[in-house]
Amino acid sequence: MREKQFNTQTVHFQKKEAAYHVSKAKPIYQTTAFTFTDLDDMESFYEGEKSYLYSRYSNPNTDDLGIGVALLEGAEDGVATSSGMAAILAGILAVAKEGDHVLASEDLYGGTYQLFEQELPNMGIEVSFVSFTDLKKVEAALSDKTVLIYTESITNPLLRVEDLDGVIALAKKHHIYSMIDNTFATPYLLKPTEQGADLIVHSATKYIGGHSDVNAGVLVGKEELIKKAKSKVVTLGCNLTPFEAWLGCRGMKTLSLRMQRQCENAAKLAHKLSEYSAVSKVYYPKSVSERGNGAMVSIDLADEVNIETFFKELSWVKIAPTLAGVETTVSYPLRTSHRTIPDHLRVDLGIGKQLVRISVGIEDELDIIEAFTQAIEKAQTKNL
Ligand SMILES: Cc1ncc(COP(=O)(O)O)c(C=O)c1O
Repeated sequence: MREKQFNTQTVHFQKKEAAYHVSKAKPIYQTTAFTFTDLDDMESFYEGEKSYLYSRYSNPNTDDLGIGVALLEGAEDGVATSSGMAAILAGILAVAKEGDHVLASEDLYGGTYQLFEQELPNMGIEVSFVSFTDLKKVEAALSDKTVLIYTESITNPLLRVEDLDGVIALAKKHHIYSMIDNTFATPYLLKPTEQGADLIVHSATKYIGGHSDVNAGVLVGKEELIKKAKSKVVTLGCNLTPFEAWLGCRGMKTLSLRMQRQCENAAKLAHKLSEYSAVSKVYYPKSVSERGNGAMVSIDLADEVNIETFFKELSWVKIAPTLAGVETTVSYPLRTSHRTIPDHLRVDLGIGKQLVRISVGIEDELDIIEAFTQAIEKAQTKNL
């Protein structure tokens, strides 16, 4: 047979794909599309016999992440998205349309607040925010247009533990959906699905990925809702890329190990900091789960602690506007995650200038504790 010419060789040099390679690690399907032997073969995708056609629609790696988180959450199905924000949007659009109303907790992650306050109204979806600390007030804020109640299982940044049973029961009583952001708790600590929630969302950028190297989101829930959400993801183009999904899956394999250690370290740090007079308040959840109370600790430093000096003196602990990696990091909610929250609400919620959010990592507890106590002491001394 005649050999192909040079230009053809440059693109067709690879061996024909073997049907099955016994690769230990899951391969990355870094492909925009899948190929077909003939038109009938391609038609079989549309008939539901084949799973993959075009990676924006679906891809084995992104499916792994969506289905994997669904499994851990005890949910029927899941979809992975390009970010946590995209997962939230896809979940909302799966259940709400123009003219509908969403009732949300007022102490949400700032980006979610912004999406709800600025973008959803542009789509004709009205959102109101109430304090979820009193469920009677939540019930009073429902209207006949409300289709969804939205909250976080452990809130960002003040780590309030939501009364999930109460919120979900309220939604059921009024025949509306409940959607829970379970990013901070992860299914290691809480499984809102088992408590009856309809949709659960994750910024997989955080504990699911766990290594601060992937931006991703996952939405899980009832099959029929995820089907609608998937169609939004496809149309809006907020699908996750195969490589990011692969990284998310790799990170997820150690979720239990990381969470166990991070929760233990966080509990010890919270306890130590509560003994310091220069720390006026420690926010660390109680009674979240038998496995622990989370790996986030927020603190209000006393007024005599200079906040700028504190951040400068943290030695190896880095300032990072994210959380949940294996490294301990700190963030300053006032100027990052909650910057866009209206001033009056921030004051009401208690997100002030002395508030520091700590994401506790897997390092040795003594080193973590020392980094914080030394920074506090130095910031105090310099200010006296
Ligand atoms: C609780 C919570 N939900 C959602 C998000 C948004 O996730 P992403 O940044 O992956 O879009 C964040 C981001 O910090 C978050 O903290």
